[in-house]
Amino acid sequence: MDARELVRSVKVLGTARGWRRVRAAWRRQRADATALPRRGRERARVPGHAQGAEERPGGGVVRFARSSLRVRVSVGGVVFCGWDGAEPEPSYALDRGCPGADPRAVLEPDKDGGWRVVSERVTVAVSRHGAVEIRTPGGLVLRRDLPPRWWDPVDGADAGPRWVQRSEVAADARFFGLGGRAAGPRLRGGSYRLWNTDPKAGFEPGDDPLYLCMPVLMVVADAGTHLVFHDNSWDGRVRLTEGEEGRGSGHDRRGGCELRMDGGPLRSWTVVGTPARVLRGWASLTGAPAVPPRWALGHHHARWGFGSSEEVRRIAAGYKQRGLPLSALHLDIDHLDGHRVFTVDTARFPDLPELAEELREDGVRLVSIVDPAVKAEPGNSVYDSGTAADAFVRDARGREVRGEVWPGESVYPDFTDPRVRKWWGGLYAERLAQGFSGMWHDMNEPVSFAAFGDPTLPRSARHALEGRGGDHREAHNVYALAMGRAGYEGLAELRPEERPFLFSRSGWAGMQRYGGSWSGDVASSWPGLRASLALVLGLGLSGVPYSGPDVGGFTGSPSPELYVRWFQLGAWLPLFRTHSANFAGRREPWEFGPEALEHARAALAGRERLLPYFVTLAYVAHRTGAPYVRPVWWSSPEDRALRDCEDAFLLGEGLLVAPVLEPGVTRRTVRLPRGLWYDTASGAAYRGPGQVTVDAPLSRIPVLARAGAVLPVTGEDGGVELEVWTPVAGRRGSGLVAAGTGDGWERGRLERFTSRMVDGRVVVERDGGGEPGYGVRVRGDAG
Ligand code: NOJ
Repeated sequence: MDARELVRSVKVLGTARGWRRVRAAWRRQRADATALPRRGRERARVPGHAQGAEERPGGGVVRFARSSLRVRVSVGGVVFCGWDGAEPEPSYALDRGCPGADPRAVLEPDKDGGWRVVSERVTVAVSRHGAVEIRTPGGLVLRRDLPPRWWDPVDGADAGPRWVQRSEVAADARFFGLGGRAAGPRLRGGSYRLWNTDPKAGFEPGDDPLYLCMPVLMVVADAGTHLVFHDNSWDGRVRLTEGEEGRGSGHDRRGGCELRMDGGPLRSWTVVGTPARVLRGWASLTGAPAVPPRWALGHHHARWGFGSSEEVRRIAAGYKQRGLPLSALHLDIDHLDGHRVFTVDTARFPDLPELAEELREDGVRLVSIVDPAVKAEPGNSVYDSGTAADAFVRDARGREVRGEVWPGESVYPDFTDPRVRKWWGGLYAERLAQGFSGMWHDMNEPVSFAAFGDPTLPRSARHALEGRGGDHREAHNVYALAMGRAGYEGLAELRPEERPFLFSRSGWAGMQRYGGSWSGDVASSWPGLRASLALVLGLGLSGVPYSGPDVGGFTGSPSPELYVRWFQLGAWLPLFRTHSANFAGRREPWEFGPEALEHARAALAGRERLLPYFVTLAYVAHRTGAPYVRPVWWSSPEDRALRDCEDAFLLGEGLLVAPVLEPGVTRRTVRLPRGLWYDTASGAAYRGPGQVTVDAPLSRIPVLARAGAVLPVTGEDGGVELEVWTPVAGRRGSGLVAAGTGDGWERGRLERFTSRMVDGRVVVERDGGGEPGYGVRVRGDAG
């Protein structure tokens, strides 16, 4: 930045805070200019010719003239490929290290001087130039990685090479995932960055990257589904090209994916199978999603700027007086003392533990925001104890790295150090003593406000990286993941009788082990509403099943119609939370007029009724990795029309939700998967696959139930009953119910029920035979 630019940005900001942001940006730039060696001369390299191969557990190592490739198939059929000596570990993503090698996988010579590893579920063929094909056992090619290309630093090598890998997929393939992307759920051709970033408040579908990027791509094609994960946390870019089919002319253009990384290992994991199988494999690799406590599946209400205990009481009373269910209230940074983490503004919140207790008696929990940045100020006890513990990130010269966040000049705990995680985890004792039940991790990309450039720490900042040592180029994308671990482990130790509840704005592959996420600062607009759904679906397919948007959007004042439509969508998503900025309009359901209030009331009642289903879906996600919210192609990925459907989703196996994402709509088309579906409002039955048009009045969004579905719902007496949608004669339906669950560590059971028609009557049976043991309510008439 030149002096003129500097003066301009100071003028624009014109405040003390503005100056500090200029200073923070300036410092960051200077730190990197002196500590990060510029990339000097580089030499391009490709693997060269294959020269031989050696067997190793699960496959082998193929040696090339200028590199080597380790192929290792693990017991579950997951394929690891590591170039240039890259091994599966160390890794922030893997839950319990590298899975065991498949003893039956064999390395064999292939035609034309290549090699292949053959296993029961997948074949990996390596050409003599280093192209790698992932094939189904039937020989269909799901993916072809072309030989990679590296740029090795010739002089002053401070880090490994940067590299690019191009891959081809079928012409009909569709891409999903990459973490939280506003542009999805289907990721069209274009460039997607892998660098967790706080975008401008009020992002919409065109904004990229956002807070939570992951090098995890799910590819769905006629030939099969696969997920590929590049275990590398450096900055990079994914460029996707959707293929085109020549419609019988034989001139198909294959789809492409190019991954370009600034450094770090070239190693990947590939899982093949059905979407369900793929996500099961992903969860077994990177960890089972944490099960939120039951209350976290109800309705949450938040606002940046409640400002006082009285206001919190007023909101809680507002819900109660109107008979609106509420599970949790969230306190944002305005309840902290000068925005300092782990403190309370006791002038405005003089009685937080009592307030928490009062709310809890009414069934409402308090959730606290927790930002990683610590105000750098002697006398601030968190700063003092962190300094004593040597907890903060330092620069290349050994000085604390200072950034600018809400409390002012701040320092950043190095969560990549196990010692620091332990120290930080202990700090949650203060939150628990204040009466908080759950934690909301924010600003953990991590953010340092900057008048220009990247709003984060200098890339040269040093990190422990579990004792290996390294810098922010490698640590940035895993910073929030490691913060999640610190919080989760701290809470589990401090309050062993309850499962921790936390959700986080940023994260990386594996974050589901510690909790979920939310949209961040999505725009209060119709495109923002669409982006909200894209985020939840994309995160689910990246392994993070629990998330939801700021209902109403973060930034503005939605019209009553937009608010109602958002609320109706939110009620069917795992995290159902209203939230807004301190500069935005209110989000209480009664602030939008009497009609909106009644529609919100209906959505809330629907959510309450469905709570046992949500609890079940949380356990299903934990056991199988299947997200609560699934794309409509989940069980029929071969249906191309479904693959392109982006405005509806499946909630578990049983329901199809078709939100209204545009203004003025009172009827909409819905694309149905195979089978018979009932409109849950009208009872009308429709046969899929195909497209139908259904009513979508402002009072509700269309929700369809699959014939035969058995859904656990809240009955009139408050207990669980089974809502059974009449099966088609001659076919069985089914459903699961989580039982024996609580908010502790109990494993719970997933009971399975089947439904079928016998002599014109619906019969519901518990798996293994016997009476269901719950009340049964039959709905729908298959006609
Ligand atoms: C940014 C978060 O995304 C938002 O939800 C929160 O209200 C503000 N930070 C203030 O803490």
